[in-house]
Amino acid sequence: MCGIVGYIGYSDVKEILLKGLEKLEYRGYDSAGIAIRNEEGIHVFKEKGRIADLRKSVDPSVAAKAGIGHTRWATHGAPSKLNAHPHQSVSGRFTLVHNGVIENYEQLKKEYLFDTPLKSDTDTEVIVQLIELFVNEGLDTEAAFRKTLKLLKGSYALALLDTEAPDAIFVAKNKSPLLVGLGEGFNVVASDAMAMLQVTDQFVELMDQEMVIVTKEQVTIQNLDGERITRAPYTAELDASDIEKGTYAHYMIKEIDEQPLVTRKIIQAYQSETGKLSIDANILQALNEADRLYIVACGTSYHAGLVGKQFLEKMAKIPTEVHVASEFVYNMPMLSEKPLFIFISQSGETADSRAVLVKVKELGYQALTITNVPGSTLSREADYTLLLHAGPEIAVASTKAYTAQIAVLAILANAAAQFRGRALDFDLVHELGIVANAMEILCDAKEELEQIARDYLATARNCFFIGRSTDFYVGLEGALKLKEISYIQAEGFAGGELKHGTIALIEDGTPVIALATQEGVNLSIRGNVKEVAARGANPCVISMKGLESEDDRFVIPEVHELLTPLISVIPLQLLAYYAALHRNCDVDKPRNLAKSVTVE
Ligand code: F6R
Repeated sequence: MCGIVGYIGYSDVKEILLKGLEKLEYRGYDSAGIAIRNEEGIHVFKEKGRIADLRKSVDPSVAAKAGIGHTRWATHGAPSKLNAHPHQSVSGRFTLVHNGVIENYEQLKKEYLFDTPLKSDTDTEVIVQLIELFVNEGLDTEAAFRKTLKLLKGSYALALLDTEAPDAIFVAKNKSPLLVGLGEGFNVVASDAMAMLQVTDQFVELMDQEMVIVTKEQVTIQNLDGERITRAPYTAELDASDIEKGTYAHYMIKEIDEQPLVTRKIIQAYQSETGKLSIDANILQALNEADRLYIVACGTSYHAGLVGKQFLEKMAKIPTEVHVASEFVYNMPMLSEKPLFIFISQSGETADSRAVLVKVKELGYQALTITNVPGSTLSREADYTLLLHAGPEIAVASTKAYTAQIAVLAILANAAAQFRGRALDFDLVHELGIVANAMEILCDAKEELEQIARDYLATARNCFFIGRSTDFYVGLEGALKLKEISYIQAEGFAGGELKHGTIALIEDGTPVIALATQEGVNLSIRGNVKEVAARGANPCVISMKGLESEDDRFVIPEVHELLTPLISVIPLQLLAYYAALHRNCDVDKPRNLAKSVTVE
């Protein structure tokens, strides 16, 4: 969702901003723009569509050494050139980019801007016009910016240019992510370190309700009362090659292929010197003291949470509930006496999950975040963090983060079981090693899965995924992957549930993908497959070795029964990938979607 970059220094800024925006493309956007400043003033270029379109519209003859850029994912107002950022004040003195949502922008418009002609439908324009209004009333830019920030309700990451302050970019943050990057003779701002890794790996985190004045020599952080704040920079431990596609056609297929390696990295990261899996004792203590765990997440991370519940209940015997964050925040269930909250989030920035975390902290409860991004908002604001070690996930459709979340949840449940003195009859390090090998076998089965995608999904209008027990949860994820990148309407169902209504949708040839990896329900899921086949469906059974039947279309290697989600999802990821390719969809950047969903 919206991305921001900014640079002030000694190099021509156009390419730095455009490259930075390209690195933020993964977040999802529908228009983009840059504003660059030189002696002649501010030059704004913006376009609806891709960065490639913006690139074409930028005048190569205009050189400048300071500028800001933005990718917009439309919230207020349609995706259009007019609504694209940067937005300018009436006189053109101020130019602003914004990530987030201003909840009271209508009210501010009525109260302060009744005389100001607004050009766009955005909430952002209100901010830039307010700054100009307060400057016209006599404040200097810094004071006008601060006064405006104090009026805003909602989320924002902002970068502002002022023609009368040519040596500075004014920056502020509340709830939306924003970092300042440090260089020799230049400084930068970015929603994500990846965007500015091209020029620096030194970053300073910003906290909510902070404002920053960035010049090429200095970064001055203040709170909204103008008090100075000092904060040490950190080194972004990202390898530029982590964020390149290399020889792969798409990030998604690269990230699918990285899953065996990520699983091995996770084992290593959580192994103690004795070779045993270990988790911070404070986290285990918190789990042990809790009478109930509440997992809160969205989308794919929610699906990982469903699998995690099985681990925590079956291995550690701790009652666990799993909730969709956007529902939980407004419709909180009756909580147990000593709850512990577990937030699962690849990005660590998802606004729906964060809204729950804020509420939970207000209520005085403890929270653990499981995330791929160290220092992300959900990580900083929780009491504890467990990292996924999956490396940057760029494709919008989450793949390696999902399996990493499940692997970390398994390790957490395993450690909690040991902490509670429960002996398990398997060695998780050994079993995860088997999983990593099985993942490799599946990643090598691309041709076979491409053929299955062609046979079942090339022209399908809709598709059902069925499974029982853990397979049901993986089916939900398989359906989400398919719909988000191929736009085939897909739904996951518990095998036994289809006949209670949805079976009415089965027609001749409707693809039904059934998972059969659980011995206890193998016969029943096969009964469900027969039910749909009898009504004309085209079933595609994916089973686990040892449970397979003659007509099964694909058989996955055998792994421990609890850990099957880690591998049964891979054929589903690959089916979605090839279905999207066959249908000429933009695999890495599906329509309407954003990678980091920073608005509620
Ligand atoms: C689907 C997908 C989304 C995310 C969801 C939560 O492929 O990626 O459903 O899982 O938006 O995002 P995070 O995990 O960053 O909180």
